[in-house]
Amino acid sequence: MPGDLEAIETASRDEIAALQLERLKWSVTHTYNNVAHFKEKCDAKGILPGDLKTLADLARFPFTTKIDLRDNYPFGLFAVPRNQVVRVHASSGTTGQPIVVGYTRKDIDTWAGLMARSIRAAGGRAGDICHISYGYGLFTGGLGAHYGAERLGCMVVPVSGGQTEKQVQLIQDFKPDIIMVTPSYSLVIAEEFERLGIRPEDISLKIGIFGAEPWGQGMRLEIEKKLGLDAIDIYGLTEVMGPGVACECIESKDGPVIWEDHFYPEIIDPETGQVLPDGQEGELVFTSLSKQAMPVIRYRTRDLTRLLPPSSRSFRRMGRITGRSDDMLIIRGVNVFPTQIEEQILRDQRLSGNYQILLTRDGHLDNVEVRCELQRAVSGKLSPADVEVIGKELQHHIKTIIGISTRVSVLEHESIPRTLTGKARRLIDGRPKQI
Ligand code: DLL
Repeated sequence: MPGDLEAIETASRDEIAALQLERLKWSVTHTYNNVAHFKEKCDAKGILPGDLKTLADLARFPFTTKIDLRDNYPFGLFAVPRNQVVRVHASSGTTGQPIVVGYTRKDIDTWAGLMARSIRAAGGRAGDICHISYGYGLFTGGLGAHYGAERLGCMVVPVSGGQTEKQVQLIQDFKPDIIMVTPSYSLVIAEEFERLGIRPEDISLKIGIFGAEPWGQGMRLEIEKKLGLDAIDIYGLTEVMGPGVACECIESKDGPVIWEDHFYPEIIDPETGQVLPDGQEGELVFTSLSKQAMPVIRYRTRDLTRLLPPSSRSFRRMGRITGRSDDMLIIRGVNVFPTQIEEQILRDQRLSGNYQILLTRDGHLDNVEVRCELQRAVSGKLSPADVEVIGKELQHHIKTIIGISTRVSVLEHESIPRTLTGKARRLIDGRPKQI
């Protein structure tokens, strides 16, 4: 087995640290020289790329956040001329404007290589058939998985999301070895197999590579039982690259291994920004070490987790994501900020800005109810049919603009409880906690 790995995956920690420092110096200098926004932030702190002499010196550099991406929408953080960018992807911002990332040809090549490494860590091999149900498009899941599986030498079935019956038919006909999909949707597929009376041992799949949303050990065991495969955790985010920033190894299944030769991780206290020692829980921060088009220096992921010592590879691992330090929700794999929903509510003059989002879990899937109120001026004065139309329109806007299905309740004025402190309680998350 180790003979099949890339040399760096089993290198000594000293070798890894030396490579990281060399690449970090390049990445910080490249960003400083080519991204005006980053240079301004460094200049304001009085720090120069030349001040970075050890890995620990990185802590002196400024953080990057989603706000930096929003303020420089769409291409303001690109560090190469626009004509060297061969692809863009996008993800949710906190309001209607998405955040955009770009890739050079070499960045796409690096990403494919890291996804191939991830699929291999998950137990996949050249010649395997790989069924991809992550969404294709601006979301990084589909195309990221696709290029990696092709790079490894798999036969790729690019199904994308949805159409569960067709997914199941294709799995029965093509007999794939690997499936790449969100964990919650894998259980919807499993239920369709169950409905057809097909037993787990008769399903061809051997490996499932699941990510894009939080899931725990309980869900792993359930998926493994229902689909008869090994369930592997893959982590990533658009801003840093997409899927394949970290991936679990099938032999240990003990948390995603961070591909530390391309991404330098730190854990910080989300309140103070102080770097915390390995093992301590805090917010995960990444610095890209090789990205050309859109390098990120100290990007605050908002994901709460901890760094774990190396096990099956020489790289450190990350623990389970236990929560977020912002209010981003992941609903059926789609990232959503409550403020995005608020923005849609406020488009309708007849609705007050008071609203609540109720999350529940029905079986394995998240359900969202949006409760909003009529303005005092119209409350009690509209016909039930008019109120229904308001709800339908809002539901339609949320679906077409944010991309999630919701149930909308339009209530009379002052139906939504106010809290004693006066602070709105926007979100009621009734979903069971992942274990
Ligand atoms: O979800 C990339 C991806 C696609 C990862 C397919 C894995 C598989 P974004 O849409 O930018 O990118 O969402 C990133 O999703 O900050 C986490 O909060 C969450 N997330 C991703 N993977 C995991 C995971 C893709 N394995 C955000 N466990 C991240 C828990 C995850 N949360």
